[in-house]
Amino acid sequence: MIDSSTEHRTPAEGRLRVVVVGAGAMGGEWIRMLARSPHAEAVGVVDLDVPLAASTAASAGLADVEVGSSVAEVAERAGAAAVINVTVPQAHRVVNEQALRAGLPVLCEKPLAPTIAEALRQVALADVTGELLMVSQSRRYFDHLAAFRDAVGALGPLATVNAQFFHADHEPGFREQMAHPLLVDMSIHHFDQLRYLTGDEPVAVRCSSWNPPWSWFAGDAAASAEFELASGARFVYAGSRCTPGLQTSWNADWRVYAERGAAFWDGDDVVRVDADGVGIDVPHGREGIEGSLEEFVTALRAGTTPQNEVRANVLSLAMVEAAIRSSERGGERVVLAELLEESLAQAIADERSDDVAALLTSWDSAADGIATPAWGSAPAPIASGGAR
Ligand SMILES: NC(=O)c1ccc[n+]([C@@H]2O[C@H](COP(=O)([O-])OP(=O)(O)OC[C@H]3O[C@@H](n4cnc5c(N)ncnc54)[C@H](O)[C@@H]3O)[C@@H](O)[C@H]2O)c1
Repeated sequence: MIDSSTEHRTPAEGRLRVVVVGAGAMGGEWIRMLARSPHAEAVGVVDLDVPLAASTAASAGLADVEVGSSVAEVAERAGAAAVINVTVPQAHRVVNEQALRAGLPVLCEKPLAPTIAEALRQVALADVTGELLMVSQSRRYFDHLAAFRDAVGALGPLATVNAQFFHADHEPGFREQMAHPLLVDMSIHHFDQLRYLTGDEPVAVRCSSWNPPWSWFAGDAAASAEFELASGARFVYAGSRCTPGLQTSWNADWRVYAERGAAFWDGDDVVRVDADGVGIDVPHGREGIEGSLEEFVTALRAGTTPQNEVRANVLSLAMVEAAIRSSERGGERVVLAELLEESLAQAIADERSDDVAALLTSWDSAADGIATPAWGSAPAPIASGGAR
């Protein structure tokens, strides 16, 4: 569904006028990228810490942008047509609600929410407001991942997908305090990449997480997990955020074994295939958050459904929550469909807006609620290169 106000607000040409909400480390990255983007420009910056909003904007050379602490008010003053939400995960739903209720489409940083229940409330909210809510899973947008994906697609049925992520990162702030800094803040990227890479969907998981004795994180900085996929293949994942030495790419490194052969991606710029007749063709598109922004603006203008429209992202988040539940239950097998239904009941119990609660209650099931994208007239094809 495309709301007429959205069509009215999204100009067909020129750079889209956006407000960036959250002027922390990543908000600064977005603001600096927007300063050189052909697709959008930051005309407002919002943060609870207004002086921080002003100084982050100024450091990107944006002296004239509107700043403040209210999304709707800054957007109105700045004449903005969309919002990019780069606040901490706990604030994502509240900020998205303010923007969507003000008639502004949103590109929201991952993770969409701390829980599936909060994510489902946002699915219904986007539907009720008729505005586009897209999650920025920026690690889908890499040229070599697109090449790897094409190669994997030529290997036939999958046996197993292995991904490893080993890092030692020091980022004081919310990450070092959270209960599951690896699974919630980092593995969400890798789990989402698995879905992009294979088109296979997760069914169940067994996971174990722990915190190495030298860890500088309060919560579990390491985990291993085995997911069962709908095809019957397995996704075997291992990671840590506090392991110096032999570091992998931030994108993890990947091996896929299938009926016709195998493929490897180092997470950066090395893709190898061991299968007769399967080559590697690296496209050239915009990478990372630039790729994500390009798809958001293209979807708004063309009325197509971006690959990370809010509904489509729920299963990536569900992989995280299911892995955490399994770990907290001693490695018990957790079925994602069951977790989704429990989360819908929780979403209905938590929701305070009558219109959103009524929509959630009307769904036959959570699976029904996330089955059809709310926004966009047609699914955008996932092509190699460009807006993947
Ligand atoms: N895609 C990526 O590779 C990537 C990398 C880093 C961070 N991120 C994501 O970006 C988001 C922000 O991370 P960060 O490292 O910049 O965090 P941060 O703590 O440095 O900054 C967050 C900012 O949000 C502000 N804020 C919090 N609640 C707010 C609210 N209700 N209204 C307005 N402002 C509010 C805070 O004051 C703070 O300035 C997170 O969701 C994180 O997961 C993504």
